[in-house]
Amino acid sequence: MSYYDSIKVPWVPTRDELLDYVMRLAAVGPNDVFYDLGCGDGRVVVRAVKSGAKKGVCVEINPSLIEKAREYAHREGVEDRIEFLNEDFFKVPISEATVVYMYLLTSVNRALRPKLEAELRDGTRVVTLDFEIPGWKPVQVVEVALPTRMAKLYLYIKGVSDR
Ligand SMILES: C[S@@+](CC[C@H](N)C(=O)[O-])C[C@H]1O[C@@H](n2cnc3c(N)ncnc32)[C@H](O)[C@@H]1O
Repeated sequence: MSYYDSIKVPWVPTRDELLDYVMRLAAVGPNDVFYDLGCGDGRVVVRAVKSGAKKGVCVEINPSLIEKAREYAHREGVEDRIEFLNEDFFKVPISEATVVYMYLLTSVNRALRPKLEAELRDGTRVVTLDFEIPGWKPVQVVEVALPTRMAKLYLYIKGVSDR
């Protein structure tokens, strides 16, 4: 898996109906630094800071999407609590995260796993939508009925799920 493969992950936004489930599953609170790896238009990270996270980090390779994310955060009045990184998530340090969100693909999650294992601190929560992290054991799986399909959210905890 390389950067060139990973950018084939298309922009498909997390549906708004799922955002509360993500925040509850990750138990987002005032001590959290919430990373969205491949943050698209910023809707998840904006919700995270509006739900009480002290800081959000929005990592997105596509420059027009990161601009969209910045504008959305500005409109929502939370721009100053979010760091916007127009970068490749394979190259961004993530050790500051207490929560990581990923709506990617199984193949990309597999490729990111060594980075998650090397950099995240024990206790960090990792939530993925629809695609598992191969080799990690979820501590909780939540299924949500959407109008057109079932969505699946996976919660992993570094130090538990990777052992
Ligand atoms: C399925 S979308 C999810 C968007 C957002 N997380 C959400 O849930 O609404 C995946 C996003 O990852 C971005 N992406 C793909 N490869 C990337 C990489 N190597 N570094 C940073 N972003 C990447 C894509 O441009 C796309 O916006």
